[in-house]
Amino acid sequence: MRLLQRSLCALMLTASLAVLYLHVWSPKPSARVDLRNRPERAPEQLLKDHLLVPDKRYAHITFRIKKEILELLPNNVCKCEVESSMNLPFQKQLFGYVWAEDFANTFSPSELPEISSMREQEYRSYLQRSQSPADQLLIVRANSPLEYPAQGVEVRPLRTISIPGLNLQATDRQQHYWVSLTATMGTFDVAAEVDGVKVEGEGNMHLTVSGSQLDNLNRQLQFVTYTNTLFHPNTADTVQFSTDKHHASFTIRIRHAPTPRLHNPGSPSGGTNSAEYNISALVTIATKTFLRYDKLRTLIDSIRKFYPTVTIIIADDSKTPEHVQGPHIEQYFMPFGKGWFAGRNLAISQVTTKYVLWVDDDFIFTPRTKVEKLVDVLEKTSLDLVGGAVREITGYTATYRQRISVQAGNEEGDCLHIRQGYHHIIEGFPDCVVTDGVINFFLARTDKVLQVGFDPRLNRVGHLEFFIDGLGMLHVGSCSSVVVNHASKLKLPWLKTEREKQYAKFRYPSSTDNSMITKQNLFFFKNHFKCMTSN
Ligand SMILES: *[C@@H]1O[C@H](CO)[C@@H](O)[C@H](O)[C@H]1NC(C)=O
Repeated sequence: MRLLQRSLCALMLTASLAVLYLHVWSPKPSARVDLRNRPERAPEQLLKDHLLVPDKRYAHITFRIKKEILELLPNNVCKCEVESSMNLPFQKQLFGYVWAEDFANTFSPSELPEISSMREQEYRSYLQRSQSPADQLLIVRANSPLEYPAQGVEVRPLRTISIPGLNLQATDRQQHYWVSLTATMGTFDVAAEVDGVKVEGEGNMHLTVSGSQLDNLNRQLQFVTYTNTLFHPNTADTVQFSTDKHHASFTIRIRHAPTPRLHNPGSPSGGTNSAEYNISALVTIATKTFLRYDKLRTLIDSIRKFYPTVTIIIADDSKTPEHVQGPHIEQYFMPFGKGWFAGRNLAISQVTTKYVLWVDDDFIFTPRTKVEKLVDVLEKTSLDLVGGAVREITGYTATYRQRISVQAGNEEGDCLHIRQGYHHIIEGFPDCVVTDGVINFFLARTDKVLQVGFDPRLNRVGHLEFFIDGLGMLHVGSCSSVVVNHASKLKLPWLKTEREKQYAKFRYPSSTDNSMITKQNLFFFKNHFKCMTSN
């Protein structure tokens, strides 16, 4: 009997230990994070609608519309129209004439509805992926006694911060003061407890702080902390902050700090004037070749006169490739005819230096091709990419500066506008300007170019497309004082060699060629444009 009792007792003890063990060690049902596309939010109210249809309180107040200003506001209707111009003499020669192009009509009427609806679906989910609550509009209501941080509060995923700036400003004397904080993706706590203040809900998503002395309560608010508990980086927790009849909201951005990718400049001094930069350590020259080995060799010889040890990377998609050998040269072979952007992508993916200098295979370096000057601009400004100038055999020098802008449209798509020109001159660099697109001779931060990438679907024509994809990501400049020469492009057709004819066939497709169609299709679907204007 005793024995039975004892073993029963042991069994119960084991069982309860097991339960306890399970309770303590079993994985907690983890909070679920909904990463699926959120259901459609109400479309953003446009400012203009607010202005013209005010709430009922103001319905009786009359106003006069200033049309010229109203037209400047975004209205989600964009058009690609050729601006009527004044018809000045030589206008076309001086400014180029403006043209407009529609992308929707590259599709047949039967396929357009399906393409458009697929695009719309992809576009919506892109918008949802790329937006965070921290980007949303928050209005501060009038007369609130609550003081709180309007923006700039940030926490790394699953980490803790103290929330700055929380305060209650009560004008009338009260018996009892209180505030509450509510979060949805993390919990609150206090780093210290202040006498005479009651704190409830520490470690929870809802925290209440109360007391009879306002100063003590405000002192306590200085110790409030927030801990992100739901792992969902690159979003934000919208915190509700309340007292009696007043409510406020502010966001705490949740994100990893972007990981830096730094490059060793290659010399201890680092170089502060352009003569001191170690170009071999800082720059890789990248090019893409297709059949033109004579031109490529001329380019390499010209580079070696000025930069004997800089690395040159060559992407080559010729049919019968020739090996181009020499110190500090890397040649990468690609399947035949992979194309222009694919080659740029491959070449740039192999760069290990801080900067990459893009050149075409028929360029020639001269004493005016001072790469140091371009390095100096990128070292001393916030620009990511800076273009130089290309001098043709005729003596004509081009910088090909382009301003690019996108006007918001409706579900038919947005409007792309490209104009020659620039935004402003760069302080301290009188030969350099800020613009959006430049010629195909440019120095760029390698990591930024990799971030944008060259779309390999643009296999034969394409240049500005890279800058369009990079709009908003790349800060672009152009300096006219750094010049590279261009070997002659113009040649009478009957004097062309067989190779040159083959090259021309691939490189300059006729307008009926389907690579033009590819380009328009990409503008329409990938970039969500319906049309463009340019000059
Ligand atoms: C410049 O950089 C290259 C490559 O990193 C290195 O081999 C060379 O010694 C450097 N030159 C000077 C003067 O520091």
